[in-house]
This record gives sequence, C-alpha cells and structure tokens, in this order.
Amino acid sequence: MGFNMKKALITGSGGLIGSEAVKFFVEKGFEVFGIDNDMRAYFFGEESSTTWKVNELKEKFKSYHHLNIDIRNKEELEKLFKEQQFDLIIHTAAQPSHDWAAKEPFTDFSVNAQGTLNLLELMRLHSPNSVFIFTSTNKVYGDKPNEIEFEELETRYEVPSGHIYTNGIDETMSIDQSKHSIFGASKVAADILVQEYGRYFGLNTVAFRGGCLTGPNHSGAQQHGFLAYLVKAVNQQIPYTIFGYKGKQVRDNIHSFDLVNAFYHFYQNPRQGEVYNMGGSRHSNISMIEAIEKIENITGKKAKISFSNQPRSGDHIWYISDVSKFKQHYPEWACTYNIDQIIEEICIKGHK
Ligand SMILES: NC(=O)c1ccc[n+]([C@@H]2O[C@H](COP(=O)([O-])OP(=O)(O)OC[C@H]3O[C@@H](n4cnc5c(N)ncnc54)[C@H](O)[C@@H]3O)[C@@H](O)[C@H]2O)c1
Repeated sequence: MGFNMKKALITGSGGLIGSEAVKFFVEKGFEVFGIDNDMRAYFFGEESSTTWKVNELKEKFKSYHHLNIDIRNKEELEKLFKEQQFDLIIHTAAQPSHDWAAKEPFTDFSVNAQGTLNLLELMRLHSPNSVFIFTSTNKVYGDKPNEIEFEELETRYEVPSGHIYTNGIDETMSIDQSKHSIFGASKVAADILVQEYGRYFGLNTVAFRGGCLTGPNHSGAQQHGFLAYLVKAVNQQIPYTIFGYKGKQVRDNIHSFDLVNAFYHFYQNPRQGEVYNMGGSRHSNISMIEAIEKIENITGKKAKISFSNQPRSGDHIWYISDVSKFKQHYPEWACTYNIDQIIEEICIKGHK
C-alpha cells in the first residue's frame, strides 16, 4: 500500500455501521484495518452471523485487511497498535442488545466497557494523534425520556406542541438516576471513558449517542435491529410480538451512510471529548404500527403481529434525537435518507 495512505482502524467491521464505515473510508482512499470476531453469532445465533459481510468486504476492497481479534484481548490488539499508526479509529464492536445483556452481564461489560478502554488506552499510547469515534447509544439516558408527559395520538405517542423536546432530546438530558438496562450501563461506562480520554488526556475523541441505526447491511435479529427484523418477519411470515405501548412507541431511524458521513465530518475537524445525539431526528422517525403498515404496503403481505401489554424493561416510549448541536458544529452535514427511503431500501435490497 502507498506510504501516504491514511490508515483507519474499524472495530465491528462486519456489522451494520462498521461495514458501512469500511466502504466509506476505503472509497475515500484510506487503508482500512477491520476487527471483527463474529461475536454477533454468539449473541444472537448463526442467522445473525456477520461473516457474509466480512467475506464481501475482503473480496471487494484490496485496501481492506481483516483481523479476527476479540477486542477484549488487549495483547492481540497491542501487537496491531505497535505495527500500525492509525489516523482514525472507529469503534463500533459491541454487545448491542438490552435483553441479551441481562443473560450475561460480565460478557456484556467486558465487551462494551473493557473493550472500549483497551482501545482508548492503546490509542493514547501508540496513535495519540488519531481521531477516536465511538458509537454510543441513546440508552445512556436510561428511561429518563419516559418522564415526559406524552400525548397519545392515533398511531403514535408525541410530545405536546410547544414542548421543550419538540425537536427531539438533546445532550443536556441527565444520564443519571434512571433505568438503563445492563447494556445501557456498560455503554455509559464506555461513553464516559471516551469523554475522559478527550477531557483528561486531551485526545480527539467523540461519542455519538445513536438512536435506531438502520440500513441494508444489518444482520437482523429479533433482539437487535428492529426494522431489518420486522421486514424479515413480514416477508417470511414469522409471527412478531410488539411489547407494550400498543405499538405506538416512536423511534428515530438514521441510515448507516448518514451516520458514517457524520463521522467523516468530525474526523476532518475533530474536537476533544465531545458527545452528540445522533439519529434520524424529526427528519426520519416512525412508530411500530406506522412501520408495519408501510412494510405491509410495500411487500403486499400482512404482518403476523401480536401485542403484549408488558413493555421491555427500560424501553423508550418515544425517542427522537435532537441533532442541532452536531449541525451547529458541522453545518455542512445533513441527513440524506428519510424514513420512507430507509424502509423501501430494506424491503427491496433486503438483508442477508
Ligand atoms: N443498531 C442500532 O440501532 C444502534 C443504536 C444505538 C447504538 N448502536 C451502537 O452502534 C454500534 C454498532 O452497532 P451495529 O448495529 O453496527 O452492531 P452489529 O451487531 O451489526 O455490529 C457489531 C459487530 O461487532 C462485532 N463484535 C462484537 N463483539 C466483538 C468483540 N468482542 N470483538 C470483536 N468484534 C466484536 C460483531 O460480531 C458485529 O459484527 C454498537 O456499539 C451499538 O451499541 C447501535
């Protein structure tokens, strides 16, 4: 590879966001080192394995190098950091599900918190001038957003008009004293560590607190990746249960391309220890029952839905990200996909 090629390290490179980031940065001329040990198959079963995507990346991109490393393995990671100086580190590898985390809290914490610390510390020691981008989550706010008094409309919950969160939830919401789930707690630990490596050590770090992240590369599992899984369920006529809130719970959805494009804007003009809420915002959001109707219309198939009164523990009733802080810092960035385009793309291209 050329000597002046920029080098990027992308963890979770077989996943939804990681694989989009590989493509994006290879196309920008980076030499990309991807880490993924297919732990998603361990979390959610073989049908959620990301090996298909890794194989595709290896075949397609000459400047992509795959490394089958577990991010919990600091010694293996250190070998890599001693060999390569990175300009950019995008850390997306994670145990990403609330429900799963409760089964194995130690595994969840070791991947999400310890794995992030391993990468931050190795960056500090070996690539201190790089930019470290972490995919955090809106679950760092726990179920605090549920304290808002929502209005119940025909197909969704909404904030009353004129409410302070009309444009979505911003970064001033407290991450303290609410129910996060075990997953949310391990992500809080990682999010705060990312901030400290910026604030305390003066490195270029950022945590993007994502709403629902979607796109055609998601290896859909019932416990993670709701739109991709919903499309799969409707297409294959798999029964689907909606937990709580009568299906009126609202999520904002951002396409993986728009998120990775935000990473690129940050990389070009980095800051230290920043946090941004990042999601589809008012531009792209939907309730469960609204999503089902759209998918039924596109596929021409009727969903096999049942409703349970019991919400998932700590689940948000309504979450829309206010992305105005990011837009203020990076005015040239904007979401290019809206919810209809996202759903159509998943329905047409499908996923694995
Ligand atoms: N998808 C969402 O809706 C969403 C929302 C908010 C935040 N996030 C965060 O964004 C990030 C990316 O999410 P995604 O949807 O792309 O997830 P994903 O599950 O599609 O991808 C994560 C990848 O990391 C790999 N991985 C897991 N543990 C690993 C380990 N110990 N070592 C090496 N590789 C490992 C998995 O095999 C998988 O390929 C995660 O940090 C997640 O918490 C996701």
